[in-house]
Amino acid sequence: MIRKYTFGTPLPTGAAVLSLPAETSPLPWFDVSREGEKLRLTLALHPEERLFGLGESVRGINKRGFLYRSWNSDVFSHTESTESLYGSHNFLVFFSPERLFGIYLDDPGLVTWDLGYSRMDTAVITSENGQLDIYLLEENSLTETARAFRRLTGKSYLPPRWAFGYIQSRWGYASEKEIRTVADGHRKQGIPLDGICMDIDYMEAFRNFTWKKDAFPDLKRFCAEMKEEHIRLIPIIDAGIAAEEGYEPYDSGREADAFCRKADGSEFRAAVWPGFCCFPDFLRKDVRRWFGDLYRPLLEAGVEGFWNDMNEPALFYTEERTAAAFSRAEELRGGHADYEALWSLKDAFNGIANNPEDYRSFWQEPEGRRVRHDRVHNLYGAFMTHASAEGFRRFDPGKRFLLFSRSSFIGAHRSGGIWQGDNFSWWSHLKLALQMLPNLNLCGFLYSGCDLGGFGCNVTEDLLERFLQLGVFTPLMRNHSALHTRDQEVYRFSILDLMRNTIRVRYALLPFLYSEFMKAALTDGMYFRPLAFDYPEDPRAVATEDQLMLGEACMIAPVLEQNAAGRYMYLPEEMLMIRFRSPEDYDLLELPPGDHRISLSLGEFPLFVRKNHAVLLCPGGDSSETLNDHDFTALCLADRPVSYDLYRDDGTDPAPLLSEHLTRVSLAPADRVAKIHVVL
Ligand code: GLC
Repeated sequence: MIRKYTFGTPLPTGAAVLSLPAETSPLPWFDVSREGEKLRLTLALHPEERLFGLGESVRGINKRGFLYRSWNSDVFSHTESTESLYGSHNFLVFFSPERLFGIYLDDPGLVTWDLGYSRMDTAVITSENGQLDIYLLEENSLTETARAFRRLTGKSYLPPRWAFGYIQSRWGYASEKEIRTVADGHRKQGIPLDGICMDIDYMEAFRNFTWKKDAFPDLKRFCAEMKEEHIRLIPIIDAGIAAEEGYEPYDSGREADAFCRKADGSEFRAAVWPGFCCFPDFLRKDVRRWFGDLYRPLLEAGVEGFWNDMNEPALFYTEERTAAAFSRAEELRGGHADYEALWSLKDAFNGIANNPEDYRSFWQEPEGRRVRHDRVHNLYGAFMTHASAEGFRRFDPGKRFLLFSRSSFIGAHRSGGIWQGDNFSWWSHLKLALQMLPNLNLCGFLYSGCDLGGFGCNVTEDLLERFLQLGVFTPLMRNHSALHTRDQEVYRFSILDLMRNTIRVRYALLPFLYSEFMKAALTDGMYFRPLAFDYPEDPRAVATEDQLMLGEACMIAPVLEQNAAGRYMYLPEEMLMIRFRSPEDYDLLELPPGDHRISLSLGEFPLFVRKNHAVLLCPGGDSSETLNDHDFTALCLADRPVSYDLYRDDGTDPAPLLSEHLTRVSLAPADRVAKIHVVL
């Protein structure tokens, strides 16, 4: 049951697709109070209560024990004390033996989630705007709660099938020649590949919707050539439009009055990569249309996928903020600066970027209402995503496009996926990526993944290999790294053979993983789940923080520590362990329920399968398009006949019907642990 409670006059967010009447009775469970405009919900937590949700946020799968702020932020070096990340997903499920319910705060401004931080036994949720719809979801199980949330907010985005292939990315690829070298590097070494991302360096002076004519003399030809080799080019698009007369998107944007303005009516400008930029008011429908059409030249050149970035929006500096910092420096020049003065100077410069004052200095117009940006801040990236998806649909309504964004809000999960932002080459960020995934799924973002290998700082070979082993299972499997960091293309490393085999396992599993993804998306399910969703009565499973359920009947437990050569893990029931070294070389082990120490040398990683369920492996291939998905090896642990419904489609149909694409695979295993050849 979903109930809606309205407080004041909520700002439109586009998150809910279900229109419900507002309840007249008070919101149950919470003590509701006001402090000025703010609305505060307080709730005593049960000792055993676990909290799932908040999508993209730091720390564990269970969100209890920290303070999180929903405030979309460009946070390059986030750590476990970072309160805000790139997206805001205000959905949280309370789960204890005494009660189960989910709460969604449909609020586009700052929301603070004090989840046992100020007091360990209390949750305090505060909305700064204080004008919002709150939805309460009460269902019989965690899985049903997740499903109900999707009923409320709409179906998850469907990427094209090729987007499940391996994607190579790096900030710095600046020409057709360099991209070709990367493509050849993979192909020559037999490393499967489906896409190469083009970061800002492909653009002319970092201006959106342009490309360097000397470095990419004929983009259409280049796209076609790469596509021949089954490799897609995936350019980046940033939110800000360079404020330069004569630059077409700026001129046409001005003509359409598309840019956000300050209170005095002047254009709001802040610097991002190209220098000073203007920011489209994506909350206006006409602006979304104008922006969505700007993708056209790239689409016409043959591009079928994009990543949208810097759309929190990230602001490097404004004139006002730099002036304030320099005047602080002037004040201190020559005189003796004690440490406090010196720190204030550092703070003044550090605070130039993404300054709250700047977010309060411009206005937007959602549905004809004039609203100061900070009150709707968290919608910015989401509506950029909608603008792009709407543009792609207008260009070609007959197919799916790849789209993933850095910033997001609930609702954007209908239009695109997200990547998990600028992580570092840290083991702790490998764990963070794993822990974030089920909560992203709970909030509707199924197509997701982290920068494999880590974006910032220098990766080590073993860390990249362990990242890839997680990436084998994430829908978005992209290796991405920052300018000036150690080269991170797989073919550059001494353990290339291990890495190649890991990626080849992804391709052997691709038809199966795609099937699991599509079934989850089309039935409002979750591709990744915390173990608690499948084993709610098992306290050990409920407390598990470093394993995930995948699809209908699988579980993953990657190695997350350096030099570990294995790990401890918990099996809630008897399962088959497939310990992969390559698509051809793996162990099949029947494991009883309970605690295990499994040995996993650097090139090995496990997939667990519940009894009487099957996993399908295909022979693999160099790309998703050249896979043989008729010839399978089914792996299972079974004491009776087993069946699996394999979802297959053309990989591009934007509105596929589940029932039309299922092929039943029926298996009659002769042994408990079986390996059966199937031709479909
Ligand atoms: C941002 C993005 C990163 C990208 C860089 C340059 O930091 O998050 O992925 O490589 O900008 O465009």
